[in-house]
Amino acid sequence: MAETRVMKEKEPELTEAQIAVHWREEQYYYPSSKFIGQANLTDPAVMERFGEKNFPECFREYGDLLSWDQYWHTTLDTSDAPFWQWFVGGKLNVSYNCVDRHLEKHKNKAAFIFVSEMEDEPPVSITYQELYYRVNETAAMLRDYCGLKTGDRVTIHMPVVPELPITMLACARLGLVHSVVFGGFSGEACGMRAADSGSKVLVTIDGYYRGGNMTDHKEKADLAVATAAKEGTKVEKVLVWRREAKKYHSAKPMVAGRDFFVDEILKKYAGQIVAPVSMPSEAPLFLMYTSGTTGRPKGCQHGTGGYLSYVAGTTKFIQDLQPEDVYWCMADIGWITGHSYIVYGPLTLAATSVLFEGVPNYPDAGRPWRVAKRLNVNIFHTSPTAIRMLRKAGPDEPAKYDYHFKHMTTVGEPIEPEVWKWYYEVVGKGEAVIVDTWWQTETGGFMCSTKPGIDPMKPGSAGPPLPGIYPAIYDEEGKEVKPGSGKAGNICIRNPWPGMFQTIYGDRDRFVRQYYQKYNRDKNSKKWQDWPYFAGDGAVQAPDGYIRILGRVDDVINVAGHRLGTKEIESVCLTVNEIAEAAVVPVADEVKGRVPEVYVALKPGVASDGIEKKVIDAIETQIGKIARPKKVHVVPDMPKTRSGKIMRRVLAAISNSLDTGDVTTLANPDIVEQIRVMVQGDKKVVLKEAPEDLKHFGDER
Ligand code: PRX
Repeated sequence: MAETRVMKEKEPELTEAQIAVHWREEQYYYPSSKFIGQANLTDPAVMERFGEKNFPECFREYGDLLSWDQYWHTTLDTSDAPFWQWFVGGKLNVSYNCVDRHLEKHKNKAAFIFVSEMEDEPPVSITYQELYYRVNETAAMLRDYCGLKTGDRVTIHMPVVPELPITMLACARLGLVHSVVFGGFSGEACGMRAADSGSKVLVTIDGYYRGGNMTDHKEKADLAVATAAKEGTKVEKVLVWRREAKKYHSAKPMVAGRDFFVDEILKKYAGQIVAPVSMPSEAPLFLMYTSGTTGRPKGCQHGTGGYLSYVAGTTKFIQDLQPEDVYWCMADIGWITGHSYIVYGPLTLAATSVLFEGVPNYPDAGRPWRVAKRLNVNIFHTSPTAIRMLRKAGPDEPAKYDYHFKHMTTVGEPIEPEVWKWYYEVVGKGEAVIVDTWWQTETGGFMCSTKPGIDPMKPGSAGPPLPGIYPAIYDEEGKEVKPGSGKAGNICIRNPWPGMFQTIYGDRDRFVRQYYQKYNRDKNSKKWQDWPYFAGDGAVQAPDGYIRILGRVDDVINVAGHRLGTKEIESVCLTVNEIAEAAVVPVADEVKGRVPEVYVALKPGVASDGIEKKVIDAIETQIGKIARPKKVHVVPDMPKTRSGKIMRRVLAAISNSLDTGDVTTLANPDIVEQIRVMVQGDKKVVLKEAPEDLKHFGDER
């Protein structure tokens, strides 16, 4: 997208890199001496230790947090640039690292504490010893009952219950590649992902609690299998965990010969131990599908040794996770945050990680703080959307509960300074440090954040890069935008790092095109210095080097911290028979940050009755409720350039009450005012202050 911006006629001032960004610099907040006194990382020399002159060997420090069956011989191999290979020659098993190796010292420690959404169900602790058995039995089932072999892919469509990480770890034990699909995605979305990954087995659950109700989740499995079949992939077995023993919370019958209750099969494998398969460091560990600039989500493939060492190192240094801590990350395991910072990072360090099934404000906005008190949680991790929601619904709730956090994380979206301050003062009671961690599905782990025991915090700013991460902000021509210049540009990471994803599953070309082509200096180069990673975010760097992320510069909308591709939603709209054209734009939302709004133009002669419902139904069925648009506008025509491209930027401006700019060069300029009146009514409001991503979203593509 950003490339097309410079080619726009007459409006070169619209390039991201040339936008002057004015925002008030916030004051620093300093970590308390109490926090610093206990922190894992307090040595400021860490930046030098991980500096460019020690790269890539500096990352040995992370690799050494793991137990290797065979030590690596090459820390970083760049011979297949930009497909970087980490810890080459090394062999290890992820489930061994997360479970077995902790038995000697920590077998009676809780690995997970599961908190049901139903508050009258007491929390359930799963010790490392118990986890060991459950992972082994599940691995035995996957290997012997399902016939799965190292390298096979397994799609898992589950909510946050202990059986989800147990299944992930069982896959890792065998070298199977798991692909967890967020439980809130629809059956069709799950089926598309199962087909793309060629999964023969789907692991699911009958139902789970959400907002106080038991949802029927198994019905999605039937749709997933049917969708995968249409795409040419036969899902042979559907393994169904049960949320409650001996019950079945689905209206859909089990399909004979295809669907199996896991608890019934596991009886056969009770107490069985499966030797962990020693995997090459570079073997894939999992796929995580995420939205990009094309209609179809892409499977980001993460590796074994590099990924695990990076999440272990960043969990230790940035999450400051220590043996006696109780750590609660409220994300869903179905997103990268959950993979890296609920499951793999904490378990590698033998920590105690809380699993929460529910939504934060059920039955009321005091729930998270009651959980924190009851479990004595002292590290808390959530998103700006959840913070905004809790602040709105229960601004005084935290004070009512006697819990104490030492550390809090925010992730997934830019956080407004006022919201940050509420998090700091009210949720953290002025005692906890905050880390605002900027990263992505692709990066595997944190990229920018303050080091909690070293750096002061600044509300609304992610902070400096992590040790061993060398970012640069480039303009459209690839010139560096200097810190303190007041200009925004595209944030890139100049170097490879161990947590970086390996490829887009089945699409090497797209991997290179999307992440490297833009700033690559020589496509034949084997030197990492020639391959800056293009993250797809706009950013600005203050004079102190702190980085503020402004939002996506491509066609991705960040809804409540989760990525949705506008093209993905547009292509769903076009499956509604009556619709000729569709355009999806982000609109600011007080709680969720951004939400999609849909514009559709109908085929000639069709009636507009019921279109809104049809569009919403199609989006919910094909993607999931998360993509539900705020509004669907049926318009007589789309604003278009003379070459026929839809001007999404103009629609985004209308939806967000911004200035639509000069539209006189359009093929149909009059339509703009017509649509504006439809959307905003007669009274014209133009907001002057607007976030960068909204002002510059969706120029013609
Ligand atoms: O735009 C950035 C935003 O979320 C995008 C990545 O989304 P996803 O791959 O789903 O991963 C989310 C969890 C890591 C980024 O491109 N983003 C993530 N963290 C922040 C952020 N924006 C501002 N501040 C953050 N701390």
